[in-house]
Amino acid sequence: MNSNETVLQRFDLDGDRLPAHVAVIMDGNGRWAKSRLLNRIKGHEQGAETVRMVVRTSREIGIPVLTLYAFSSENWQRPQTEISALMRLLKRFLRSEKADMLENNIRFNAIGDLQRLPGDVRQAVDYTMEVTRENTGLLLNLALSYGARDEITAMVRAVAEDVAAGRLRPEDISRQVVSDHLYTRGMPDPDLLIRTSGEMRVSNFLLWQIAYSEIFVTRTLWPDFSREEYLSIIREYQKRDRRFGRVTS
Ligand code: IPE
Ligand code: IPE
Ligand code: MG
Repeated sequence: MNSNETVLQRFDLDGDRLPAHVAVIMDGNGRWAKSRLLNRIKGHEQGAETVRMVVRTSREIGIPVLTLYAFSSENWQRPQTEISALMRLLKRFLRSEKADMLENNIRFNAIGDLQRLPGDVRQAVDYTMEVTRENTGLLLNLALSYGARDEITAMVRAVAEDVAAGRLRPEDISRQVVSDHLYTRGMPDPDLLIRTSGEMRVSNFLLWQIAYSEIFVTRTLWPDFSREEYLSIIREYQKRDRRFGRVTS
């Protein structure tokens, strides 16, 4: 039995039914801080600890792709002080996790309108992608300055350019062509979508890719989200009957 199988057995997980891609809307940092009479930034700091836990757990059990929604295209409308603090935290996270990513064969990738990020953050993101490029284990995909409508708009533009340049015929535009022009090209669609802190909405996250994801919303605020709860959601996911529109006996 290899070490991964031992881990799966210990957590009562079925290795044949692991999600190929887990996507998470990490919500509730502000409410966590507010309930403790703390500044929202403290909530984001504590939330970064949960990110470390979810990355570690995903790697241990052998999840191939993990996408974390860290900053949306709409989040640019938050107060400048909060945006700056989030950018600072992001840089700190990338710096502190580099060794762990290299040691544990984690490949880092960012999706979103990265042009909008401050130069130093963009540099840190590019650098982390570059140094982990050859890794073949967990793909850690961070959605930064990400909005699904922007992503879809960019896809339509790219496809239109291919058509205008004569590289693609309109009748050849397929679902695969669409997928191949999104930021997530080459990745499986999320099997499992988790949102913390109870809000029943998708907030402009991966609109095309979540067409058939299994959705779990927990009331737990992101900084309080534990390894036990993460594992229990994956266990629940493994019990779901995924019909994809068909009839099962
Ligand atoms: C999620 O926590 C983190 C980001 C969106 C960056 P929030 O900051 O949205 O926390 P709440 O929703 O206000 O509690
Ligand atoms: C979604 O959370 C975005 C991220 C988790 C980065 P928000 O807190 O921004 O979403 P809304 O405002 O509840 O839709
Ligand atoms: Mg929120």
